[in-house]
Amino acid sequence: MAAQETSLNPSHGPDDEPSRRDIIMIAATGFAAIGAAAALWPLLDQMNPDSSALSLASTEVDISHVDTGQAITVMWRGKPIFIRHRTDEEIAKAKDVNVDDLRDPLARNANLPDNAPATDDNRAAKDREPWLVMIGICTHLGCIPKGQAVGDYKGEFGGWFCPCHGSQYDTAGRIRLGPAPQNMAIPPYTFTSDTKIKIG
Ligand code: FES
Repeated sequence: MAAQETSLNPSHGPDDEPSRRDIIMIAATGFAAIGAAAALWPLLDQMNPDSSALSLASTEVDISHVDTGQAITVMWRGKPIFIRHRTDEEIAKAKDVNVDDLRDPLARNANLPDNAPATDDNRAAKDREPWLVMIGICTHLGCIPKGQAVGDYKGEFGGWFCPCHGSQYDTAGRIRLGPAPQNMAIPPYTFTSDTKIKIG
């Protein structure tokens, strides 16, 4: 009997029917496989982009409440997006600039070719020049400039002022003074209606 239990296939009886021990071993193996699959599932599942990550790939913003002269900041892919509803005066100031005099002559607009010049037309929303949509990150060392909130100091050019090292941007978000090398970037976006912007 002892020799039978230590053989390679010890539990099959003379009729080759599965014995009680076979059944226990099969059941144990089955549970182990299910356990392994269950343990693997969270690992596989976390490799898929979750719904929150997918939703951040683009974001839709309601701008119906943003009156002329006001601005809002929304987050997109972890970055602040400045949306300003510019006044006529701010637009006129931005247009009254010779692109050749700018430190950064490029529009830096993800919706246009890389070599598009930094005219106000190329910085503002297409066919909606009061609207400026921009990644609100200073191109010097990445601070978030002031100029969005009512009462913020907006710098000498009426746009944005970065308090970290004093960079100043105009009303089209172009660098005009201070150490920042480039205009603030324009993200990819479209107006899906008169009051909604889809960013990303
Ligand atoms: Fe804006 Fe340095 S980070 S001026």
